[in-house]
Amino acid sequence: MVALRDAAREAMTRAYAPYSQFRVGAALQVADGAVFVGCNVENSAFPSGICAERGAVAAAVAAGHRGLARLVICTEADVPTPPCGVCRQVLVEFAPSLDIHSFTASGAEARWSLADLLPHPFTPQSLHHL
Ligand code: THU
Repeated sequence: MVALRDAAREAMTRAYAPYSQFRVGAALQVADGAVFVGCNVENSAFPSGICAERGAVAAAVAAGHRGLARLVICTEADVPTPPCGVCRQVLVEFAPSLDIHSFTASGAEARWSLADLLPHPFTPQSLHHL
């Protein structure tokens, strides 16, 4: 877990967040133990930016990993922050009860199951109910 926290913290330092000044780092461990990181990358055309968590998911999937084991998030906020709604939806596609751990640069931490953060999700199975 320390390695995941270090990876998330390091990714946070690489965030490109000149507009919000809210830097986020994410470390995503996949089923075989490999770790993929992401940071938020903002854009002057604001909606074009992407969150740290989705960056990490994209990196894992592009490397051939769809089995997600745990996600660690790091920010500089006062309180640990959960993933945003869009990221919850992207995560639930691959890991409906993903273990999520969020911590801050000052040491505060929180844990959630994605199942609690996103109850009654829309999933691939939802498409089979036509
Ligand atoms: N952000 C993330 O990277 N992850 C989240 O789950 C919430 C928000 C980023 C998006 C934007 O660059 C900045 O934080 C402020 O919203």
